[in-house]
Amino acid sequence: AGNEAPDAWLTGSDITHAQPRDHAAHKGSFGDVAVIGGAPSMSGAALLAGRSALAAGAGRVYVSLLDDAAPGMDPVRPELMFRQHWWQSPDATLAQTTVVCGCGGGDAVRAALPRVLSASARLVLDADALNAIAQDASLQALLAARAARAHPTVLTPHPLEAARLLGISTTEVQADRLGVARRLAERFHCVALLKGSGTVIASAIGPARINPTGNASLATAGTGDVLAGWLGGLWSQDAQGDPSQVAAVAAWQHGQAADLHRSGPLLASDLIHALAKAR
Ligand code: APR
Ligand code: MG
Repeated sequence: AGNEAPDAWLTGSDITHAQPRDHAAHKGSFGDVAVIGGAPSMSGAALLAGRSALAAGAGRVYVSLLDDAAPGMDPVRPELMFRQHWWQSPDATLAQTTVVCGCGGGDAVRAALPRVLSASARLVLDADALNAIAQDASLQALLAARAARAHPTVLTPHPLEAARLLGISTTEVQADRLGVARRLAERFHCVALLKGSGTVIASAIGPARINPTGNASLATAGTGDVLAGWLGGLWSQDAQGDPSQVAAVAAWQHGQAADLHRSGPLLASDLIHALAKAR
């Protein structure tokens, strides 16, 4: 029945802003995020997501790089904690953590996916995690099982990743972005955030929404990783929140930070600073 409501553009009044921090708050009040990604030569993607989750206000951020030779700390953001094979943590840890999985993950991300899909309470799937799911029916079954347990998932595909998930072409994705986002949400039992100019956020219930913020300055490598981390960081602070609303706020703020940036390409690292300032 919710699908009978008209689809709509997001407006500023849909955007909920961070509340002032309670005076007696501690870092446990803001939740934990774990970023899983960064196969050999792609650790930057996972670092960007981790730094972005920190900037969004997550209490603690863990980074689990899929590269045994990767460094164990980030000199730019020493606040990040590195944990090899983080997904092998106890069930209770996964159940309490907002997981962002796939950024720069390569094929190596497949090793983490069954456990993460089974045990994490809140999950953002990006990039190579989506490519793995597109090819593997057993992972798709785990997504359906998550939904049955009321463990929400947000998928953040760009048009090519969306095309792979649905077995169609990117031309077909771009010709019907609203319809594709809704199909993704229904087929994979999740919130779908279809990236690109006019990012669409759809869930299995309710209307799809289109984000008007953002511009082509975002067409630089790594801005998608920043979005995934920002979304995880917001969600960790609003663990019971509606994931579709958290995704809409993340997309809005990500685009707005780019709109406030006046000239030329916006490098992903600079986008994190712009986001932190614009909140
Ligand atoms: N207008 C508005 N937003 C835009 C525009 C535009 N013209 N161009 C890009 N964006 C935004 C998108 O909406 C998205 O939030 O920038 C971000 C780009 O994200 P991705 O496409 O995921 O780019 P990125 O993460 O840098 O890709 C690097 O990761 O996902 C893999 O296969 C992908 O190899 C690629 C790598
Ligand atoms: Mg990407």
